[in-house]
Amino acid sequence: MATADVGLTTTKAPFIEQAQQSGQTYIEQPYELYSEENQETWRRLYERILPKWRKFANSRFMHGLEVLHLKPDGIPRLDDINHFLAPLSGFKAKAVSGYVPAYLFFDCLRQRSFPTTITIRDGQTLDYLPEPDIFHDVAGHVPMHTDRVFSDVLVRFGEVARFAAERANGLAGDEKEHVRCLESNIKAMARFFWFTVEFGLIREGDGLRAYGSGLLSSLGELEHSLTSPAVQRYPIQMEWVINQYFEIDHYQPLLFIVDSFDHLFGLVDELEQWLKDGKLDNVSPGEPAVNAEDLKSFMEA
Ligand SMILES: [Fe+2]
Repeated sequence: MATADVGLTTTKAPFIEQAQQSGQTYIEQPYELYSEENQETWRRLYERILPKWRKFANSRFMHGLEVLHLKPDGIPRLDDINHFLAPLSGFKAKAVSGYVPAYLFFDCLRQRSFPTTITIRDGQTLDYLPEPDIFHDVAGHVPMHTDRVFSDVLVRFGEVARFAAERANGLAGDEKEHVRCLESNIKAMARFFWFTVEFGLIREGDGLRAYGSGLLSSLGELEHSLTSPAVQRYPIQMEWVINQYFEIDHYQPLLFIVDSFDHLFGLVDELEQWLKDGKLDNVSPGEPAVNAEDLKSFMEA
């Protein structure tokens, strides 16, 4: 099979497997490797979701699509995106070969880099994501990074993660207890990130809109999140979010609402204060599990 036919399909891309095997996390986007089927998948995803964005996405996202010149025609080149993005917020999309351990991920945000998946989901299963893909990362996340306040939220979040690492590594005494606290801190941060950056809702003018990228990149869940009576939607509360477990394998039954991105920024400040006060050291058990690699990334920070 010619290389071009193999393509860059999620979980089926030899280029990505090779990069992972050789320990390369940060890569270039090998644009010529996208197959015609990959390009067709992007077109179909974009065309189908566009009317839903118009109804359910927040206005900053819609503006972001425009200023980044994101189009349905084909998979975007990260260099082109970055050309438009950098002057707006200093952010850039940085291609990665796959999973980035938690601390490194958050630390990239602090430095205004967004680790970006370059593979695209299988065209046979458009609404199923075994892992993030370029449609989730570039069409779901990156338009939000054009907004100055939202991008500052991500940077601030990266600072909280750095503070968590410094705190854990600077404590004297019982090491086992420090690891337990760090694990609880990471769980709290992951929950906060999930219920805001990935699945957040925002109050806007006449109603609610989505700003979370998990919603913005899902053909089915975007509309469901805002119209289904099965979804509970509540004003965000710190004590609830950090103690609330979540599962990734089905539509979210519970979502939280912010009033504005300034409000969200204030919440990240509050998250840091809670961390300093030790209020994230004993969050409720349950999902998400903190894996060994995530823990290690914080301990080695
Ligand atoms: Fe995401």
